[in-house]
Amino acid sequence: MDKISILGGKTLEGTITISGSKNAALPILVSSLLTREISNLDNVPNLLDITTMKELLISLGIKIVAKEKSLFIEPSNNISTHADYELVRKMRASVLVLGPLLARFGEAEVSLPGGCAIGSRPVDIHINALKKMGAKLEIKDGYIKASVPNKKLVGADITFPKVSVGATENIIMAACLAKGKTIIRNAALEPEIDDLITVLNKMGANVYRSDSNKIEVEGVISLKGFSHSVMPDRIEAGTYAMAAVITAGRIELLKAEEKYLKNVIKYLNRVGAKIESTNNGINIEGPKVIKNIDMKTEVYPGFPTDLQAQAMALMSVAEGSSVIEESIFENRFMHIAELVRFGANIKNEGVKAHIVGCKALNGAQVMATDLRASSSLILAGLRAEGETIINRVYHLDRGYENLEKKLSMCGANIRRI
Ligand code: UD1
Repeated sequence: MDKISILGGKTLEGTITISGSKNAALPILVSSLLTREISNLDNVPNLLDITTMKELLISLGIKIVAKEKSLFIEPSNNISTHADYELVRKMRASVLVLGPLLARFGEAEVSLPGGCAIGSRPVDIHINALKKMGAKLEIKDGYIKASVPNKKLVGADITFPKVSVGATENIIMAACLAKGKTIIRNAALEPEIDDLITVLNKMGANVYRSDSNKIEVEGVISLKGFSHSVMPDRIEAGTYAMAAVITAGRIELLKAEEKYLKNVIKYLNRVGAKIESTNNGINIEGPKVIKNIDMKTEVYPGFPTDLQAQAMALMSVAEGSSVIEESIFENRFMHIAELVRFGANIKNEGVKAHIVGCKALNGAQVMATDLRASSSLILAGLRAEGETIINRVYHLDRGYENLEKKLSMCGANIRRI
């Protein structure tokens, strides 16, 4: 199994081009289930999660041809409505096929995605919303077995009990082919959802945010193919911005979009970084000494949970103590035990982590536990004195395209072994 070795202590300087967003590309790929026509998706990052989604769609009967960063997506006349456990278990976002399959074919059998390292992650919000749209759903043999009387979902007025990115995407896609109007209240505000909405409207759907967290969808009879370029990945951009901060370096992030990173930039300014937005992206310069700042993750536009672990790596070498509170996921502190191996001083109490900044980190053997936790270990390794070996790097391959290459180009001593 691949490992990553880092010889830390280098100040990073250079330019990194931000790839297409994983979390935007995944639902957009799924939206191809809503049409009979050919679609073309550009700026698709080459990641394990994208491969998993391609495999799932291919297993359902969609033909996908890749050419560099472009995917040509061609549905067949014979789409299966069975999403198998073997593919769904690899990635939770697979559950996004449920809404589109039900909307187009009136039936679907999708494996339950199950728990993962960061908590139980239920799908009750997806299921209850589809029930409100007229679907009959039951959980049997580990599968969500769903069908719609008369094969047609019906628009409904739905209020989510909790903000959920995936449920918002699933229900928007389902509503596009439902009869009548669907209103989603307490919808998530993530920009990746708006990238999906742009695609759906290109396909002939009628989806709009009538208020920031209220989405309205007028159902249509059928949808066309689309051509689209995926938005840049704000979480990748935030991670490399923090690489500049933790190494007191200077990195230009090409294609990074400031408007989607406002609260992250605010936080990084407070820890002492200098950040400037240009026509091409964002320039970031890390401080000599990182200031200790408390932080709480929140739904967008708040500080993203997907950058919480990375922020903890920064705080582990800050000049004083800080508290990080995780408000989205119940168990997203797996990286604490690994950061402690570098010599970090972190204690976990419920949803809070108490961090006492230390002068230096020491290279260590550590294990990646989930995607974003892994990137916090990369950041700690870049800062630490001596060699760091990160095991289970497949977690990183799920979400960071060409990570070693991008960091090496900025002077990091990092390689895959
Ligand atoms: C998406 C992102 C993920 C990010 C997360 C929160 C993708 C592919 N993944 O995940 O990177 O960390 O948003 O910003 O875009 N919940 C329920 N019931 C449900 C659905 C969710 O209780 O039916 C809970 C979850 O357990 C969690 C919270 O709601 O505590 C938010 O989850 P959600 O926004 O749905 O996350 P994902 O869409 O899975």
